[in-house]
Amino acid sequence: MNPAILLADVVSANREGLKFFLQNQKCDVTAAADGESAVRCCREMQPDLVLLYDDLPDIGSFELCREIKKDPLNQLTPVVLLKPSPDLWDIQRGRDAGAMDVWPNPSSSWDLLGRIQTLLRLKKYMDEQARSAVFALARSMDSKQNLRSGHSECLVAYVEELGESFGFGEEDLHELRIASWLHDIGKINLPESILLKPGPLNAEERRIMQEHPIIGEKICAPLKSLRRILPVIRHHHEKMDGSGYPDGLRGESIQNPFR
Ligand SMILES: [Fe+2]
Ligand SMILES: [Fe+2]
Repeated sequence: MNPAILLADVVSANREGLKFFLQNQKCDVTAAADGESAVRCCREMQPDLVLLYDDLPDIGSFELCREIKKDPLNQLTPVVLLKPSPDLWDIQRGRDAGAMDVWPNPSSSWDLLGRIQTLLRLKKYMDEQARSAVFALARSMDSKQNLRSGHSECLVAYVEELGESFGFGEEDLHELRIASWLHDIGKINLPESILLKPGPLNAEERRIMQEHPIIGEKICAPLKSLRRILPVIRHHHEKMDGSGYPDGLRGESIQNPFR
């Protein structure tokens, strides 16, 4: 899959030239000409890299960088600020705003491409590490919670049957298996006194327990490769009659994310 790059810069021949150049280097490039659309694009596409120029009409680059990084979906997204000649103060402010780096405007497209390729390799490595960490967390959660039988492992077997009965293809079944492995990862946050309590939970303990789908969604959200299964993690305790949690969804409003 081609890396997705968001180019936040005012409309100009330079911007279009750079976009064309990067597309020719097998990058999927989207351009945004103001802060509002840059934030919206980041949310929609979870880019692998944001190149943020310093001349947008509605917002400064430091502030925009902060806005982008505030979204849990983009916590792992590298944002690079491009300025004509950044000084140490710019670099410090950029880092404080969550930018991966502050670059001077490149001398050529090839110069920029070299830097981008290095960053994309780093991003891929970070994603792989984060993904392994998430799966390791889920495994440890499962063994902590189920000393006798693997709860998630059982679930994988059930959802495979269910998915096949719905006519899901192999790609969707694979996503469904991953969702099953990770669905309870948010329980990692629960104290053992609640997680392993032998008797029924009291009202306060139940409230804390019922946060686990939202926490699970937050843990997985920064990973673009897990994007499709986020609704499964968040909504695995909803019920058709609306009595489930965390959103009390009812009937058809509980959507099949693989549809
Ligand atoms: Fe659960
Ligand atoms: Fe569960």
